[in-house]
Amino acid sequence: MAFDRYGRNISYLRISLTDRCNFRCVYCMPEQMTFRPRAELLQDDELRLLIPLFAECLGFHKFRLTGGEPTLRENIVELVRFIAQTPGVSDLAMTTNGLLLPKLAAPLAAAGLQRINISIDTLDPDKFRAVTRWGDVDQVWNGIKAATDAGLKLKLNAVVVKGFNDRQDVLDLARLTYDFPWQIRFIEMMPFGEVAEFQQAKTVSEAELLAVIQDGLDTPQLLNDGQLDGEARLYQLPNAVGTLGFISPVTQPFCAGCDRARLTADGRLRLCLLRDKELDVRTPLRQGCDVEDLRQKIEDAIWFKPWGHGLAAEEVPRNRVMSEIGG
Ligand code: GTP
Ligand code: 5AD
Ligand code: SF4
Repeated sequence: MAFDRYGRNISYLRISLTDRCNFRCVYCMPEQMTFRPRAELLQDDELRLLIPLFAECLGFHKFRLTGGEPTLRENIVELVRFIAQTPGVSDLAMTTNGLLLPKLAAPLAAAGLQRINISIDTLDPDKFRAVTRWGDVDQVWNGIKAATDAGLKLKLNAVVVKGFNDRQDVLDLARLTYDFPWQIRFIEMMPFGEVAEFQQAKTVSEAELLAVIQDGLDTPQLLNDGQLDGEARLYQLPNAVGTLGFISPVTQPFCAGCDRARLTADGRLRLCLLRDKELDVRTPLRQGCDVEDLRQKIEDAIWFKPWGHGLAAEEVPRNRVMSEIGG
């Protein structure tokens, strides 16, 4: 097992498989985005070495595939099959925009994917197109249907942007929990890189969203005595079958319970989403390093995982855009 110096057991690895995406969400990527050459990304054989190292030698048991858009990765089904069969992996999930799921949900589930989180910031077709720059919300709905048909456990993620989707859209999404047994999560937007100032000005807090839902629908009931499910605080509307989750890293940081590390698309181990410190694992891999030496380097880096983010002190990550880390 891998511990950091604060006694946290780090056992959840989020792997960004590509920095590419088939949308360009306005809070995530500029429209004209230049992507990394494929050779800079971790290759399949490198992932096939790293994943067992994390699972078998370092005790990681929860793995999530992210992007960019992870379904754009060639051989995604084969990669999922490999991870699902790696000893020690007990929870295998993906975060996706859902666009390619009509084709991929069934093969991914058959390959061993258990859970899927789909991003959908609004149900309004025009607004969805505006936030993704060209997305068709109906196609995402088809993806959601394909995921549930394939038996994948589903959560929906909505990043809330002040003045854009912070009222009617929140109510429309929350209303889904009356009909579907899903967890619909509202996420406080986090600041990254060059767009950090825009993001900070447009973040909507959990408290504001609860007031909107109370006003427009009903009183959300706190579940689990407020204990977090992952990083989400759960509520339920009276008579709803699904739940509401609030992910509030800005106003209510959950760093004390953080169990995460991340592999960026270009092969850096990032110890905190919101801190720039990283360990390069790609270079030693390509230099044919000894696997035990690499394991030791990773263990040491985990030991020095930062305590948490510094958003309250205006310390914002600058070296990356979100799409290379995968959230
Ligand atoms: P579950 O395993 O289903 O709980 O998924 P998850 O919430 O870990 O993953 P997902 O990719 O759906 O992330 C939802 C939101 O939470 C995204 O905006 C992520 O950026 C954010 N998030 C996930 N982990 C962390 C974290 O450790 N720190 C911060 N600050 N945000 C996180
Ligand atoms: N802050 C919070 N969440 C974000 N996501 C993308 N950018 C941000 C941001 N700046 C979300 C995506 C996806 C998840 C991986 O992270 O919408 O649901
Ligand atoms: Fe973990 Fe960093 Fe997120 Fe805090 S901000 S929960 S330490 S990844």
